[in-house]
Amino acid sequence: MSAELSIVVPTFKERDNVAELVRRLDRALVGIGWEAIFVDDNSPDGTAAAVKQIAARDPRVRCILRVGRRGLAGACIEGILSSSAPVVAVMDADLQHDETVLPAMLRTLNGGFDLVAATRYGGGGSAESFGEGRGLISRLATKMTHRALGTELSDPMSGFFMMRRDRFDEVAPRLSPAGFKILLDIATASDRLRIAEQPYTFGSRHAGESKFNAQVGLEFIGLLISKLSGGLIDPRFIFFALVGALGLLVHIAVLRLALLSFGFVPAQSAATLAAMTSNFFLNNELTYRDRRLKGWSMLRGFVAFVLICSIGALTNVGLASWLFSTEREVWWVAGLAGALMGAFWNYAMSSLFVWRTR
Ligand code: GDD
Ligand code: MN
Repeated sequence: MSAELSIVVPTFKERDNVAELVRRLDRALVGIGWEAIFVDDNSPDGTAAAVKQIAARDPRVRCILRVGRRGLAGACIEGILSSSAPVVAVMDADLQHDETVLPAMLRTLNGGFDLVAATRYGGGGSAESFGEGRGLISRLATKMTHRALGTELSDPMSGFFMMRRDRFDEVAPRLSPAGFKILLDIATASDRLRIAEQPYTFGSRHAGESKFNAQVGLEFIGLLISKLSGGLIDPRFIFFALVGALGLLVHIAVLRLALLSFGFVPAQSAATLAAMTSNFFLNNELTYRDRRLKGWSMLRGFVAFVLICSIGALTNVGLASWLFSTEREVWWVAGLAGALMGAFWNYAMSSLFVWRTR
């Protein structure tokens, strides 16, 4: 039977959940031709091996192993693009998503929708298994999203949805691989999607632990700002700019300290180097986490970063002084334009030469 439904399951450290998930899918999807695609980011616990063991016996199951990369949304995108059925679903591996609603979602979709989003916050869905803290964050993020983007989704943060594959292909080039928020990204990437919802009860995690953390929260804010700017501002640039702002603080602090025992020129040079170093490491951890440099390539990257930023500083000062020299120019406009120019240069060149996609 050729598959009518592909199920994409992103995994990171979910070894003890995959077999149970496949068992439950098998039970829930009788009479439906399905395939399951696990997308694993080289989990250190051997998740991929666990999936391959199942795949060796069950041809409906396979594993995409990604090395040197991390990210939930990116994993989902690659899994979906590799699927073969006309309809694709995305769900978590930890059994928090109720697989028994999949047949109902498929019926709804085939009844004339492009996207069916499973919801914890509408029409009888619930998320009581979230502890108090996490529940609050989730509700707050949902409110922020509704205010900022006015989406019709009652649970825009859901990682559980089903979609027509041809409609996904249309929006795929506009999606961001960072963060957890792939559904929101898809729903706001096109305004021609016919969307339905499927209430369900968000269960508690089977084995292992959640990968949600502060960085995931930050990435979400980045995505919101990017969407608010109509896609004009790349979420990555927002992080780059934030890191740059932090670098300014480092610069001032080091300058103040160094001035206690050195003259201005060496002190300013030390402050500049300190800021570049902190920017490099923070960008490596945060902005470009999915392309993080390690070992020797880190040293090479650092040298390239310093070179790029030095040229960035020259263009900054060059543009600012030229603007300032034109008769009617205001000092702060010239200063800001120079700084922005430098930031864009640093960002564009770093993306191209330091943290390039391999
Ligand atoms: N490949 C890959 N790479 N998979 C990942 C990564 C990653 O970097 N990070 C997380 N995952 C997988 C997990 O293994 C799991 O299958 C799924 O993505 C969800 O991750 P959890 O760590 O279980 O997230 P959660 O339960 O805390 O968050 C839930 O609520 C969020 C919104 O409030 C999930 O339903 C999310 O999908 C949802 O966005
Ligand atoms: Mn989970």
